[in-house]
Amino acid sequence: MEKIILGVETSCDETALALVTTQKRLLAHKVTSQAHEAFGGVVPEIAARAHLDILPDMMRDILKTSALSLSHIDGFAATCGPGLIGGLHVGASFTKTLAFICQKPFMAVNHLAAHALTIRLTHEVTFPFLLLLASGGHCQILIVRSACDYKLLGRTLDDAAGEAFDKVGRLMGLPYPAGPAFEILALTGDARRYKLPRPLLTDKTRPFDFSFSGLKTAARLILDHKNVNHADLAASFQKAVSDIFVNRLKNALAWCQENRIPLSHVVISGGVAANKTIRQDLYELSKTIPFIAPPISLCTDNGAMVAWAGVELYNNSITYGLDFQPRPQWPLEELRN
Ligand code: KG4
Ligand code: ZN
Repeated sequence: MEKIILGVETSCDETALALVTTQKRLLAHKVTSQAHEAFGGVVPEIAARAHLDILPDMMRDILKTSALSLSHIDGFAATCGPGLIGGLHVGASFTKTLAFICQKPFMAVNHLAAHALTIRLTHEVTFPFLLLLASGGHCQILIVRSACDYKLLGRTLDDAAGEAFDKVGRLMGLPYPAGPAFEILALTGDARRYKLPRPLLTDKTRPFDFSFSGLKTAARLILDHKNVNHADLAASFQKAVSDIFVNRLKNALAWCQENRIPLSHVVISGGVAANKTIRQDLYELSKTIPFIAPPISLCTDNGAMVAWAGVELYNNSITYGLDFQPRPQWPLEELRN
């Protein structure tokens, strides 16, 4: 029988709720982004209070738009890490309370797993698949073997890809988070105008890792000059990130082939996956293994990805006690099977 799962996301500055069914139907979906622009980034304390303020109204809203009541919900899932601990506690406590009142299971969702599994909500993607998870907080290449089994191949040694977009964007006067405006600016620029480094690509000892700090510094040094064309710099920077992604994924694909891992797909997820130019470049990656990305609206933080990760846990009978403590750090390798 089709079951309905609530997903609650509060790990950063997006408050998001969604109702998703075990038959992959998205019944309701609402995201509210907080304004942290004045501070140039997210202020954890302000973010946690804002989640607390708006969660009840948003919950009423999604029940209204889906014409459902609490009693129709079969399971309650909340992001419990990694993320800002204040916000995680707000979302987890809210969701646990609903699970307690309704006497239904509670699922503690790992935010990275939610990004990783989103593609299975919208497309038929079987395990194992190769994943590039590129968001504001993370940049990793993983083999996703099941909903709770991840093999980490490589990760960033410094900044995350989204963070690099945000920091360079800020220097160019773009609003926070800079990714969407950066992409629009880059559309009118010449990607060959500025020569930017592709860190680590010649380092044979780190074939799957990332480093963005040198690239970011190179962009900053260019911006120190007069008459810098921002559109050209945005396009050149975006192209460098895309080249790095392509190179790292090619190495990972070759490794998977050598080790006879029967990948079904190559997937990109996380906020940076919303970038259409980068997605376009990744389509050329492999002739044999299809590349696929979630719909743009499900790349950045949202409740549907949490509800769907909740469905995957529910389907595997993995539920959590109401005493589960949110975790600011929660590496995917530490998920329980
Ligand atoms: O997944 P996400 O919403 O939050 C985290 O889990 O971190 O990712 C947010 C990040 C931000 O750094 C934002 O600038 C970036 O994703 N982003 C983009 C684009 N849209 C969002 N980066 C590049 N191009 C975009 N179109
Ligand atoms: Zn995220």
